[in-house]
Parts: sequence; structure tokens; C-alpha cells
Amino acid sequence: MKLWGGRFTKEENELVNHFNASISFDQRFYRQDIRGSIAHVTMLAKQKILTDEEKAQIVEGLEQILSDVENGLLSIDPAAEDIHSFVEATLIERIGDVGKKLHTGRSRNDQVALDMKLYVRDEIEELDLLVKELLQAILKIMEENLTTYMPGFTHLQKAQPVTIAHHFGAYFEMFLRDRSRLSDIRKRMNTCPLGAGALAGTTYPLDREYTAALLDFDCATRNSMDSVSDRDYLIELASAMATVMMHLSRFSEEIILWNSNEYQFVELDDAYSTGSSIMPQKKNPDIAELVRGKTGRVYGALTSILTTMKGIPLAYNKDMQEDKEMIFDAIDTTKGCLGLFTGMISTMKFHKDIMKKSAVKGFTNATDAADYLVNHGIPFRDAHGIVGRLVLYCLDKGISLDDMSLEEYKAISPVFEKDIYDAISLRTCVEKRTTLGAPGPSVMEQVIESYQKILTEK
Ligand code: ARG
Repeated sequence: MKLWGGRFTKEENELVNHFNASISFDQRFYRQDIRGSIAHVTMLAKQKILTDEEKAQIVEGLEQILSDVENGLLSIDPAAEDIHSFVEATLIERIGDVGKKLHTGRSRNDQVALDMKLYVRDEIEELDLLVKELLQAILKIMEENLTTYMPGFTHLQKAQPVTIAHHFGAYFEMFLRDRSRLSDIRKRMNTCPLGAGALAGTTYPLDREYTAALLDFDCATRNSMDSVSDRDYLIELASAMATVMMHLSRFSEEIILWNSNEYQFVELDDAYSTGSSIMPQKKNPDIAELVRGKTGRVYGALTSILTTMKGIPLAYNKDMQEDKEMIFDAIDTTKGCLGLFTGMISTMKFHKDIMKKSAVKGFTNATDAADYLVNHGIPFRDAHGIVGRLVLYCLDKGISLDDMSLEEYKAISPVFEKDIYDAISLRTCVEKRTTLGAPGPSVMEQVIESYQKILTEK
């Protein structure tokens, strides 16, 4: 039986039923649907639209449905049109005519808008917690690697030496911004659409602020047409999740490179690697690759929902039912990737000696050699040219700047003295970079302290 069968004379066609129905995916928020209904009837009774007795019967019936579903005593009927119809029909079946009063002053349009907001609000909290756990794992690695040297790259070419703490700190900043994006969305979306009706409110004297408070919203929405057709917060969430995934994907890409035979900077734990069916020697970084790959799905959700919404006239249109599957999939994917990624980096081993050796090679101290000349009165542009000649000389001889004798230095510029070796040592190159945000351990330590504080506060 359809909620709206009264006006219809023909039975619906099976294919149409199937095409129209959302029960297969919106049953996921049965809890939120029931919670919203309980708040609604509580408000109706306060406003004397229902009697206290009617309210009590309906609330009891709804609570029973909830516990029966949770305990497996009641299974959600896959033939129902949607979760709203299922709960209402079950209620009427169980408590009789009084159940028919549940939907007074409400439409499925404001009901589904509410359910989705309640559901997403909880999911934002879970996503935030998972990002926080990832930040904790990153921070731990930073704390343990303040002076573990590695090359920093630009254009994937060795550039200047940094530390693992500094490199991971970059990801800490990214995921911290992700958390702040999630909390912004939560703030902006936290208004209650219930009471907007189909699109134009109702003639019943609803107390919408009261319902909003019962459901932990900051306030009720102010325009009923917008209330039933606003999906901005889902677009914002899809965008925030796409950004989380983009960060995870970049991080994965680095780990895949670092775990390769050529780099050997890290080794993934067996638990986070897989083998090959043909090549016995293989240990593949499949988890990192899947995280990188699944990023595309989440981008897809963002593109889909933006595209679905772009041509919809006010107010509710059935197109909006499409918001659910893609958002649910994006949430599941992002949550799954966050959890696995945290486990993967927490168990990953660093080959610190290889990272350090790699930092020494590749002229990562060339800028520091130029800075040495600048500190001895040579204009930077000239210093850059002189060091360029040093590098050419070294390349020709197959050595690094540290291997050149003082005579060789002096042959290119008489300004060089014995202290050049200390000035271009890996340690000096890193330790001297103490401006805020740089890898120098003294300044990095302060940054780490501020990160620790952020994570204990929220
Ligand atoms: N399943 C619908 C959705 O997800 C619920 C709202 C139905 N409203 C309607 N007027 N048909 O959007």
C-alpha cells in the first residue's frame, strides 16, 4: 500500500515501483527517521494538536519499532517505497488508527531533509574522529623523527634536505584544515527543516524551535522552500571529503614511491601489503594504491551531486533522492580509507640510513654553499653562478660538494675557507633553518608542541 494511494486508480508497474523506490538505501537512516518522528509528535502534543495519550501511544510504538529493528525482530520490508513509508505503515499496523496521526503537519519532503541532516551530522563527527586519529599517528612519527634527515623534493628532483618530522608536518597541516572544513559544515548545516511541510509550511500551530531543540539543532530553518530543497551541505561535505581523499592520495603516492625498490625509504608492514600470484618476490603497496584509486569515486560523488542539483527548480523534486547513494558511498569510502591509512603509516618502517644517504647526495646543500658566499659579501646572484660551476665540476668528477678539497674550492672562488665543510654539512643545512615553518629541529619542536596542544583541546 502506498502512502499516497488515494488519488490513484491503477496499480503501479513493478519496474516503476523499483525505479522510484529508495528503501534499499534510505533504510540506513531508520534511527534518524524514528528519532525525528518522536520529536515531531512530542511537539504536536505540546501544541495540543495531539493529546498526550495519543502522543504516548505513538512514541511507544515508534520506540518498539526501533528496538525490534535493532534486535533483528523486525526486518525492513524491501517492498516498501522508502523508510518513511515503512515506519509509518508498521506503526499503523501495530497501534491502529492513532498511528495515522503521526504525519500530521509534516511531509516526506521536510522529513527526508531532516533525516539526511541527522544522519550526516553523525557521520561528520565520525569522519572528524578518524581524521583526528590520523593526525595523532602523524604527530607520533614527527615526535620520533625531529632529526631524521631526508631529501626534500621539488619537481621530484632533490632540492634541499629536510626531516621526516618536517615532511610529515606538511600533511599534519593538510588534515588539520580538513578538520576545520568539517566543523564549518557542521556549524552551517545545523538548522532544523522539520515543519517546512511539503514546501510552504503548515496551517497547524507548530512550535518549530521546540522540535529543533529536541533534535539538538541550533535553530529552525527560516524559509520552508529552501528547507526542503537545500542540499548545499551535502555538496560541501562531498567537497570536504574529496579534499581529504586528495590529501590521502598524495600521501599514498609518496608512500608508493618511497616503498619502491628504487627509493627504499620505507617498508610497509606485511599486514598492509599483498603479494603477486606469479612473482614470488613481490610485496605490493595495494592499500596505498587503492586509497589513491578510490579518490576518483569520491570526486565522482562531488561532481554527481553538483550536476544533479544544477537544474532543479524550487522546491522539492525527486531528483534529490539521488543525493543519498552517492553521499553514502563517499562517506563509506572516505571513512574506510582514513582508518586503513592510519594503520598503514603507524606500522610502516623507515629506513633512516637510506633516507639520510639520499639527502646527502644530489647537491641538496648547493643553496647553502651559495648562502655561505653571500655571508662573505658576494651578491646572491653571483654566488648562485659560482656554486653552479662547483656543481658542474663535481658532476664531471662524479663527486659531491662535501668531497671537494679546499684547493679545488679556492680554484673556483678564493672566498671559500675551511669552514665551508661545516656550512654545507647536512646537519647545518637543516639546523640552521629555524624560521617559523622551516625544518630546523629547534623551531620544529615548538610547532610540534602547538600540534600536541591542538589535539588535546579538540
Ligand atoms: N525518498 C524520497 C527522497 O529521498 C523521500 C521524499 C519523497 N517525497 C516525495 N514528494 N515524493 O527524496
